[in-house]
Amino acid sequence: MKEKIRISNRVMQIQKSAIHEMTRLSKEIDDVAFLSWAKPTTDTPEHIKEAAISAIKKGLVGGYSPTDGLVDLRREIVKKLKRDNNINADISQLLVTVGAIEGLAAAVMAVIDPGDEVILPTPTYSTHIRQVRIASGKPVLVPLIEKENFALDIQAIKNAITPRTKAIMYCSHNNPTATVFPEEQLRQIAEIALENNLMIITDEAYEYFVYDEKKHFSIGSIPEMKKNVISCFTFTKTYAMTGWRIGYLHADEEVIPQIKKAHIPFAICAPVVSQYAALAALKGSQDCVKEYRDHYLNTRNLMCERLDKLNSVFEYQKPEGSYLMFPKILIKEGQDSITFCKKLLREAKVSTTPGIAFGPTGESHLRLSFCISEEEINKAFDRMENYFSL
Ligand SMILES: Cc1ncc(COP(=O)(O)O)c(C=O)c1O
Repeated sequence: MKEKIRISNRVMQIQKSAIHEMTRLSKEIDDVAFLSWAKPTTDTPEHIKEAAISAIKKGLVGGYSPTDGLVDLRREIVKKLKRDNNINADISQLLVTVGAIEGLAAAVMAVIDPGDEVILPTPTYSTHIRQVRIASGKPVLVPLIEKENFALDIQAIKNAITPRTKAIMYCSHNNPTATVFPEEQLRQIAEIALENNLMIITDEAYEYFVYDEKKHFSIGSIPEMKKNVISCFTFTKTYAMTGWRIGYLHADEEVIPQIKKAHIPFAICAPVVSQYAALAALKGSQDCVKEYRDHYLNTRNLMCERLDKLNSVFEYQKPEGSYLMFPKILIKEGQDSITFCKKLLREAKVSTTPGIAFGPTGESHLRLSFCISEEEINKAFDRMENYFSL
């Protein structure tokens, strides 16, 4: 008899990512127009690369850094949090992580015991759901209100709380719906957390990409929430540093040593060369951030214009932040978003991401990304117009 492979139930229950599956299929086809990349396609700015090269040449990157990150880097993060997030931090309240992802994973591992419930407003970034499962927690998916541009449903969140609820985890601006959760609603979430002694774990990866007078608000800036928030940030999106794998989190100085216990077995410390690059990113000119935002604003507007012409196929809400959008598929065969995406890829050579990858309420939607060139957007939409015979 064939022996059963010895893998934990915790890991076995995790399904293959629909995002990675679509990426794999897209690579099998020539000349695909990509609307599925959620990573900046521009390269990291020169001054950041130069700083990393210089650190390598000076022999600074061959060893580990302190597990919580280089002191100089944490000092710069303190300034950034004060300036842009209204968070009064101290270096003892910071942990430099391997991208936002490792920070989020370490936060979840530190907070969640087996069976604990974590409320996740959905559709959401599916990695969060997997992180809760890997910690043997129970994801409780609370739908966002689609007709209000995927707003938080405060009452539904309150109704979802049980004696096992330990945390609420969200990303704002939200991947995939591009909603910027407003300060007023996040203050209501803070009240709920304080009333029920819950931890809030935030993912603020897209903090700088916000449009149309909307404002990013960090719940970690509310002083009363000091012990109840773990705020996770990254250099990935802001400075086009996806491959450097560098991010950080902020939490109370009593919470950080506990998260560190989860961080060390997975990472020891964040890549040291990337920490020097991140230091240069924070100390240098911030013009690149503005350039990316201006570019995404143009490409967002272009994508909306092109989607308007496909209004018998898709219905969309204008993205308020990030560089993603999440149109609903109107045609009947679009209910199963995986089949729809695979067909679009094979028959029109356009790569998109199926909405089901972001939780059940994401079904019948597509995620499209506009962090690409205008040329690529036009190429994809010319093909789709042709394909849907419009
Ligand atoms: C919401 C969100 N959080 C985190 C990440 C990954 O961040 P990092 O590269 O810093 O791990 C992504 C990447 O697409 C994302 O969309």
